[in-house]
Amino acid sequence: MDRRDFLKKSLLFSAWGVAARLCPAWARSPVTIKTESAMNEKVRKAIETVFSTSMEDYAARRPAMEILEAANWHCTPEIYKAYYTRGLSMTAAEAAAVAEQEPVFLFYEAAFDKIKREMKSVKPDPDSVILWHVYNMGYIVKTADSCFAVDLHHRRSPELADQLDFLLVTHNHVDHHTVDFLNYYRDTAKRPLVSNFHPAPGYCAEDKTLEFGSVKVHTRRTNHNPNLPLFVQTYEIELNLNGKKFVIYHSGDSCDPKQFRPHNDKIDVYMVHPRVGLKVPEAQKILHPKLTLISHLHEMHHLYNKWRWPYSVGFEEIDKGRANGFHCAMPLWGEMIRLTAD
Ligand SMILES: [Fe+2]
Repeated sequence: MDRRDFLKKSLLFSAWGVAARLCPAWARSPVTIKTESAMNEKVRKAIETVFSTSMEDYAARRPAMEILEAANWHCTPEIYKAYYTRGLSMTAAEAAAVAEQEPVFLFYEAAFDKIKREMKSVKPDPDSVILWHVYNMGYIVKTADSCFAVDLHHRRSPELADQLDFLLVTHNHVDHHTVDFLNYYRDTAKRPLVSNFHPAPGYCAEDKTLEFGSVKVHTRRTNHNPNLPLFVQTYEIELNLNGKKFVIYHSGDSCDPKQFRPHNDKIDVYMVHPRVGLKVPEAQKILHPKLTLISHLHEMHHLYNKWRWPYSVGFEEIDKGRANGFHCAMPLWGEMIRLTAD
């Protein structure tokens, strides 16, 4: 969407937007403010469209994605922080009231509901792995004998804790985790938590190989930027799918792919932040991924006109990947992706 389209769409939100921005009453009480219900209906229909189409059917999804992008752009970082930090103390009724003012939360919550439902009902066969894209760089990985998450950041993360065998976090920025969930996972769920910053039995700030049942995880210290050296821990994750190796590489917010030094010659799926200084095609030449998932788009801690990357970035990387012989895709929140080993 170009700036003119964006402004046109933003105007559709203005009737309820100004009041909500100035005084987010829901942050203090479950008061419902009258809103532009027609726009919210468009967002609901857009959610239906993306949930009923496949990840790479961009022709079918594009109009819906434009509506979801306009809803996302409307939400300020302050509103997002006030929302997700309520965690599970926010009731469903309160969340619904907020969503009437900020319909991006219709998508945010519906995506989580979808994932929660599918995590219970979908059983991968031994040859396959299922990935869910939650938010930002957060993914859930499920095989026939394991289930875990990387960079899980969501208001309702604790609702999934019992289903996750272990948790990996790439670095100490709040768009990649929530402190409340890390504490909950460590103290209440009492499951292994690997990070290079949070005090927990799984603390790891070195290049190492870890094992969780059939899953092997190689950690690698990498730079976020010149001011944050070795701040990001990447994860090269080896799954055993019915005797065949399937490798995932999650690079978090790493800016220098030369630091990856992968253990495997080929990666099956690579999750990447495409605008943190790293050039995706350079990383692909090092990792040789079969599929690259362009992530870290629509992250609401960031301003929409600064570091909140639009879907157009995903389309750019998909085109660049095609030109370089690499397959890129852009998962949206709530996306379920089923893959198999060769
Ligand atoms: Fe980030």
